[in-house]
Amino acid sequence: MERSLSMELVRVTEAAAVSASRWMGRGLKNEADDAATEAMRTVFDTIPMQGVVVIGEGEMDEAPMLYIGEELGTGQGPEVDVAVDPLEGTNIVASGGWNALAVIAIADKGNLLNAPDMYMDKIAVGPEAVGKIDIDASVTDNLHAVAKAKNKSIDEVVATVLNRERHSKIIEEIRAAGARIKLINDGDVAAAINTAFDDTGVDILFGLGGAPEGVIAAVGLKCLGGEIQGRLVPSNDEERERCEKMGIDISKVLYMDDLVKGDDAIFAATGVTDGELLRGVQFKGGYSETHSLVMRSKSGTIRFVEGRHSMKKKPNLVMQD
Ligand code: FBP
Repeated sequence: MERSLSMELVRVTEAAAVSASRWMGRGLKNEADDAATEAMRTVFDTIPMQGVVVIGEGEMDEAPMLYIGEELGTGQGPEVDVAVDPLEGTNIVASGGWNALAVIAIADKGNLLNAPDMYMDKIAVGPEAVGKIDIDASVTDNLHAVAKAKNKSIDEVVATVLNRERHSKIIEEIRAAGARIKLINDGDVAAAINTAFDDTGVDILFGLGGAPEGVIAAVGLKCLGGEIQGRLVPSNDEERERCEKMGIDISKVLYMDDLVKGDDAIFAATGVTDGELLRGVQFKGGYSETHSLVMRSKSGTIRFVEGRHSMKKKPNLVMQD
């Protein structure tokens, strides 16, 4: 892949973030998602690549924008798999909450797991704890492994968990082990990525979230030298059959190389609302400011990008020709 693709992809997440953030706190999650998707789709057309959406906004027959199988880019340049989540955290934006992102992950063609839209059980950590976690071990054992790897006492470890009834046992076990918890309402891509940044104060992510989000987080953690392990958790027969048809063994643990193969992948995210890692979009009368993270696994380069955009010349960051 061309190195310059990284910066091109930030333009896409910036546009999606600016568009979505206009809906912050307005209680309209679908409108926010549509705005992000439309902006992302428009800017993608200017990117020199031959991309195909493998994780997107739905299936072709549902006819959404950025459907699975949709071709993206100018039709010239590298052939890549594209995973998009134009608005990761639709409810977050609707309620003006914490950690909504516009996010894209790409890898060489054929290298991203085409994860079906269902739950994935996940455990994720940053670089210090790579190789020390095991999704099949107990929550307590994993917490102790992370504590040891990070040279912390157990009460210094912070686990992030989506605040859902289905996680009551995990939450109980974390409390019993003596670790601390950050319960989040949504947004487990940000939560997984945050484990790799010391300043966020988060050490490990546990629990079930979306499988597509699991693949996107895997690309981010690959760039950061972290780790995520997952296992698909179909909720009904239809989802089970879907896995069978796709040749995915649901008993199998999905490791980093199952989620994203090869050594070249790019992750780009722009904050829509404020989070531990990225600031949300701010409008300042005539211009907007964005804060993004862009990383490439091959080079290991991690960039934080601050953008200032003229809303007059480029409303929603799309040039008016
Ligand atoms: P959306 O942006 O699609 O609303 O997803 C937000 C999210 O919190 C993801 O981060 C997470 O993986 C998933 O939803 C969890 O699903 P559920 O809300 O069903 O527990």
